[in-house]
Amino acid sequence: MESLKDQLIKEKLPSHVAVIMDGNGRWAQKKGNSRIFGHQHGVTAVREVTEAAAELGISYLTLYAFSTENWNRPKHEVDALMSLLVSTIGAETKTLLKNNVRLNAIGCKECLPTDVLKNLEESIAKTSSNTGLTLTLALSYSSRWEIVNATKQIARDVREGKINPDDINDDLFGKYLTTNNMPDPELLIRTSGELRISNFLLWQIAYTELYFSEVLWPDYRKEDFYEALLDYQKRERRFGKTSQQI
Ligand code: FPP
Repeated sequence: MESLKDQLIKEKLPSHVAVIMDGNGRWAQKKGNSRIFGHQHGVTAVREVTEAAAELGISYLTLYAFSTENWNRPKHEVDALMSLLVSTIGAETKTLLKNNVRLNAIGCKECLPTDVLKNLEESIAKTSSNTGLTLTLALSYSSRWEIVNATKQIARDVREGKINPDDINDDLFGKYLTTNNMPDPELLIRTSGELRISNFLLWQIAYTELYFSEVLWPDYRKEDFYEALLDYQKRERRFGKTSQQI
């Protein structure tokens, strides 16, 4: 039988896939381990999906790695997640370079600990001329934070006479968001069976196809990603039009 990967239609692949990586804690607890053990194993799934996206020629992959709300978790879990981010970004930069992947980050950068920010900025700089997949990590990110920030900046620009309020439209608003140089995601995947968006890319997913997987993030592999892409390829995207108009 044809493999899932071979069944994919190259011309119908999304250019941007966003992922809410969920279920690390439950995965670890099921195994009688600490939640941190789950996050450590989540890194394998990050590697798998990044490699799959790069191999398929997908242009943008955006991963929800740490939300604004995640700061409210117990301090030891936040600290462990931050040090995992530092070590992973440091260790994976070589692989990103080898695979022509450009690293990018969205979210409140000044909210991150200095060592995370330093590693992140170094890796972003080192990979900045890569032309393959753009891997965006959403770190200390929430969509309402982003929309409020954009609104503040628009208000300042109006006050300074840089823009006219009558010129504010979807396109202009999008330029003030952290995703201003990316297309909106065509597909959003959430793992672990939870059916929520959790403050992720609310503006950008207006017409995005949603796909929910039961798999807990540390178990997520390339085949699971291909399954989501195949499901996406079967859908008809109408953008408010009728079937006949498509
Ligand atoms: C959600 O699972 C996952 C996170 C809050 C963290 C995601 C982080 C990683 C996968 C590790 C490092 C990532 C990179 C990009 C290097 P959860 O803890 O909410 O799980 P639960 O819902 O089962 O409690």
